[in-house]
Amino acid sequence: MFPDDFLFGTATASYQIEGAWNLSGKGENVWDRFTHTSPELIIDRSNGDVACDSYHKYEDDVVLLKKMGVQFYRFSLSWSRILPQGFAYKINPDGIRYYNNLINLLIKNNIIPLVTIFHWDTPQPLEDLGGFTNELMTDWFEDYARVVFENFGDRVKLWLTFNEPKQICLQGYGRNRNAPGYNSSGIGDYLCGHNLIKAHAKVYHLYDKEFRSKQNGNVSITIDLEWMEPGTNSTADREAAERSLAFSFGWYADPIFHPNGDYPEIMRKLVSERSKREGFRRSRLPQFTKEEVEYIKGTYDFLGLNHYTTFLGKDISEILTDGKPSVEKDSRTVTWQDPSWTASTSGWLKVVPWGFTKSLIWLNNRYQNVPIYITENGVSDHGEIDDQGRINYYKHYLSALLDAIHDHNVSVKAYTAWSLLDNFEWRDGYISRFGLHHVDFNDPGRKRTPKASAEYYRKVIAARKIDG
Ligand code: NOJ
Repeated sequence: MFPDDFLFGTATASYQIEGAWNLSGKGENVWDRFTHTSPELIIDRSNGDVACDSYHKYEDDVVLLKKMGVQFYRFSLSWSRILPQGFAYKINPDGIRYYNNLINLLIKNNIIPLVTIFHWDTPQPLEDLGGFTNELMTDWFEDYARVVFENFGDRVKLWLTFNEPKQICLQGYGRNRNAPGYNSSGIGDYLCGHNLIKAHAKVYHLYDKEFRSKQNGNVSITIDLEWMEPGTNSTADREAAERSLAFSFGWYADPIFHPNGDYPEIMRKLVSERSKREGFRRSRLPQFTKEEVEYIKGTYDFLGLNHYTTFLGKDISEILTDGKPSVEKDSRTVTWQDPSWTASTSGWLKVVPWGFTKSLIWLNNRYQNVPIYITENGVSDHGEIDDQGRINYYKHYLSALLDAIHDHNVSVKAYTAWSLLDNFEWRDGYISRFGLHHVDFNDPGRKRTPKASAEYYRKVIAARKIDG
């Protein structure tokens, strides 16, 4: 059984579902630009111009949420819909109206809104000035967040500043896999992370100072964790797996959630050593000042966790020092997945439920029993309506979650299934489908059809236990 106060929800993100990319005053964002200028980088050359058309069909979405009986709905705000130029000097009234309508309708249906302030769609005018590689982004993000708290904070009590910072920075600035598509591996990704963490802290303090006493909500960040299992039982590989967790999760989580704050020590040490060997005069990983460490530490009310899958990790002590810097080389690990694990349509996603339990135990130890909200978990397929594979995934991952709660005392407060709808899966376009509801992207009306998994999830929520 799930604890009495445990919450169940489902999630989406603005660019992936809203469409209406240039309607009602919305400005251009980096994903509009990326998909329009480099369609060949998207598997099916698609984009989010219309997506699920939730900008026009949000009422239908709320009906689906209501039917499943979820207690909350996690969605994100499109920065460019609210502030078309990115800066807070010009607020788009239609953008504010759209989110007000959605929030009000959710509340009327007894569904708690859990709002992600930023889910990857940077306004293009801010990106033109360097986006997250520009430290002023911390001010611009703070201005945007103030507009958001002022307009929606009377009704929204659960906030996430950022979704998956590692993907924003590593894929967006390091590897040219996500918008804005820079390839400044081992440099731009660290710089982006540095500014993003500061922006998060700034917004947390803003809420504390100006809004908390009136609005009484909770603010955090959602970080993604792929479990890293040692490839063999050797000490070297066990240390490598731990190092890989420090470089992938600790990078963002330690400065905020760890009692010592700052980046993991091993990360500071290895990046600095390697940078020197490469000829840099200083570490490619920027440093926080003592004041910044204190300012950032503790800026959370809970921990948001996205978890999908597991990797195996192995030590490589003698990677060549020549070639391009990269986070992987800095961490001196290689990772891979066991080919016998059940696959999905996403290249990186294999079904490994035990990795979920291990992740939660690791988090609980490292971050001292922090309350955890699972803000995403799910699996992709080709969009089958009778999606037995997804049911199987949820059944086993929910059971792994219950193990963590009951057998290991991990304090998990909420679970979010990704996603309410099939939607624009970034570089995978509409090929990989994560929805509990099928969306017909050939239908101008974007017809939604519940899959078998929606009914399965409805039953779990109603019974508060895993069926079968
Ligand atoms: C994490 C991201 O937050 C979300 O946008 C994406 O669709 C899912 N993972 C699945 O890849």
